[in-house]
Amino acid sequence: MEMSVPRREPAVICPSGSLSERGSYGFKMLYRGEPREAILVRFRGNAYGYLNQCVHMPKALDCEHCHVFDETGEYIRCSMHGIIYDPVTGRCQSEICSGKSLTLLKIAERDGLIYLQDKRGRLTPNHGADS
Ligand code: FES
Repeated sequence: MEMSVPRREPAVICPSGSLSERGSYGFKMLYRGEPREAILVRFRGNAYGYLNQCVHMPKALDCEHCHVFDETGEYIRCSMHGIIYDPVTGRCQSEICSGKSLTLLKIAERDGLIYLQDKRGRLTPNHGADS
């Protein structure tokens, strides 16, 4: 007898239009079974997803204000104490916490939508920033 494997619903985080260049979009997910905040950023046209937690202290990158890029637009900058990160890799570029990285999530963008495709987690219901 053939077993039917339940199909996973495509995990749409948000429409592409919700994530502007050098902007961010926060969402909620279960990561390794734990409820976590996560964030999308767009840099040079591409979308990247990270757990929204600085490596310096367990603070959200946008805990103090909503801008996640520094004034040059080249780095993600934690709003708490200013550590900067490479937006493509999540690697810390500041001397303090050097060698550490944000947790990069596997996402995909196609047909005007951004999906979570990370086997370590899934979206929670009402995961969006606006919900
Ligand atoms: S908590 Fe992010 S730089 Fe200190």
